[in-house]
Amino acid sequence: MKYKILLINPIETDLKKELHDLNARGMNVVGATNVEEACRLLKEDGLIHAVLTEWEVPVTHEGEFVLKGAELFAEFLMLRSEVNLFLYSSQANLPYRNTGGELNGYFYKKEHDYDDIVRKVRSEVINSKNRAPFFEKLVEYAKKAKDSWHTPGHASGYSLKNSIWARDLYEFFGPNLFRADISVSVPMLDSLLHPTGVIKEAQEMASWAFGSRFTFFSTNGTSTSNKIVLQTLLKPGDAILVDRNCHKSVNYGIILAGAEPIYLSPSINARFGIFGPVPKKTIISTMDKALAAGRRLKALILTNCTYDGLIYDIADIVRQAHKRGVKVIVDEAWYGYATFHPHFYPSAMDAGADYATQSTHKTMSAFSQASMIHVKDPDFEDVRDLFMENFQMHTSTSPQYPMIASLDMARKQMVMEGYGLLCNCIELSQMLKDNINSLEKFKVLELDDLISDDVAKDRIRLDPTKLTIDVSATGLTGKEVERYLLEKHNIQIEKTTYNTLTILITIGATQSKLNRLYLALENIEKMSTSRKNKVKPSENSVFLKLSQIRFTPRFAFYSDGEFIQLREAANRIAASSVTPYPPGIPVLVPGQLITSEIVEALLRYRDYQIEIHGLTEGCIKVLTAEEEETLTSYGYAITDL
Ligand SMILES: Cc1ncc(COP(=O)(O)O)c(C=O)c1O
Repeated sequence: MKYKILLINPIETDLKKELHDLNARGMNVVGATNVEEACRLLKEDGLIHAVLTEWEVPVTHEGEFVLKGAELFAEFLMLRSEVNLFLYSSQANLPYRNTGGELNGYFYKKEHDYDDIVRKVRSEVINSKNRAPFFEKLVEYAKKAKDSWHTPGHASGYSLKNSIWARDLYEFFGPNLFRADISVSVPMLDSLLHPTGVIKEAQEMASWAFGSRFTFFSTNGTSTSNKIVLQTLLKPGDAILVDRNCHKSVNYGIILAGAEPIYLSPSINARFGIFGPVPKKTIISTMDKALAAGRRLKALILTNCTYDGLIYDIADIVRQAHKRGVKVIVDEAWYGYATFHPHFYPSAMDAGADYATQSTHKTMSAFSQASMIHVKDPDFEDVRDLFMENFQMHTSTSPQYPMIASLDMARKQMVMEGYGLLCNCIELSQMLKDNINSLEKFKVLELDDLISDDVAKDRIRLDPTKLTIDVSATGLTGKEVERYLLEKHNIQIEKTTYNTLTILITIGATQSKLNRLYLALENIEKMSTSRKNKVKPSENSVFLKLSQIRFTPRFAFYSDGEFIQLREAANRIAASSVTPYPPGIPVLVPGQLITSEIVEALLRYRDYQIEIHGLTEGCIKVLTAEEEETLTSYGYAITDL
């Protein structure tokens, strides 16, 4: 058995005997006599998946204080929310109302029925976690080797494997990818658009793992997940508070819904060109102003953590929003693992947010585009039909089955070994940080370097799995260092700013990769010393202040507009989004005033060869003067709060 069980009994002699009897039945059991010891084992050993505990356990070896019932169980779940908890007690009469509702089962000690314990614990762990029902069914189906008379056209790869021209594709990906890439017309594999079988079961298991009421698999990225949620919560004329730092899909969702975005200016770190979290007081005061001004404020959407790993005090923000009757959506594209290690707690779901969207593919073992929508909204039943309709609207009728299987397996992996993998990421991150800081010209930025004064009191934390490295002392720009890493050292990093690099330490990071990155940076440091004409990175990296949103984005989006040279666009109104990528945060959304500062910045982005979506041969789409007048006369102009 690969997983372990933690058995807690304050009486040492009894514990020894119980350990012996359970281990003799093929279980892998470790023991503790007090809470402190049990917590240490839970922290150190990611393979522990079930806890069998007495009702009342002393806190330390000395045994002066005890924890019992719900309080005791909460202590364990706070460390490892994914373990199964069983009460193994000599107390027959339970104080039922004090169990906290988190127990998976009960065994009465005086029955000495070890076989029953083994059977039940095994079945509970396997049933609740250690399975991937969709993936397993897909493998079973592929093994049946049925003749395919249905889509897709490659018919389990037959069209490719016999081709003299296209066999490469088959050989590169391997036969199983094609055997598993089948059509929705196979009933035993269920339907993503109307799940009643293994997909439903896989989604329910994900819901348990991520702590939601309902979880939905989404096969076109969090880009789509965001649109589905926004179109569900917002109707034309409704308002939503939006972190201006949000991903472009949020703006597209708002356009589709016909809603009014009320943008929240993020904190800005000018020195490193980094957008930080929105200050808490901005969120709360804008929420109050919007409500006082009579706006139909339905929701708040925040990105947590940010691309650079800054984590909001999300539980407090959710509390404040809920107090005002505002729903909270958290874009957790970069933070899906938060539920599997206490270092990252709380996840949006644990913090009580109503919706969370996660790019499972970005940080866990799922194929690109694989995403999940988690729902905790207590009023979800009121909008469930609309949500499903939106899900249908945005989901292909031919979703990729291997992608669904990867979502199922990513969940299983995180539940079974996510804690251990994340411990490893945190350790590797510290090691890499120490190594990089031992160099003279690279410095890993700390929380205080990354955040600005306006969020200093907002209880922001830094995710250690995202390292931002200051490269200014090399005399090279972030882009130049990135290019050297790629072309000379075969290393691809996540993103750059003018003077920083950001790297992600995912569950796929290894010691070898870590050392290779260190050696490459060491080499670049040496090379930069001998460089004659050093580039002086500017103190003022590229960042932008939010300009006014003059018209509801949907109406600006559907205007015909006209294309003009970017250089001449100051003081006009954008009719489409303009988004540098990565990270995909729009600088302009339809309806927004184009300032000369924005024009300058976009020209500079272009000079740095940053990919910019929304410019056509140096031209930008803007509203014509007549369209501005018409939209104003129709009442689609937005006034400031
Ligand atoms: C904050 C944020 N949300 C959503 C997305 C879109 O996610 P996906 O690539 O899964 O569509 C991204 C992508 O970079 C992102 O950064």
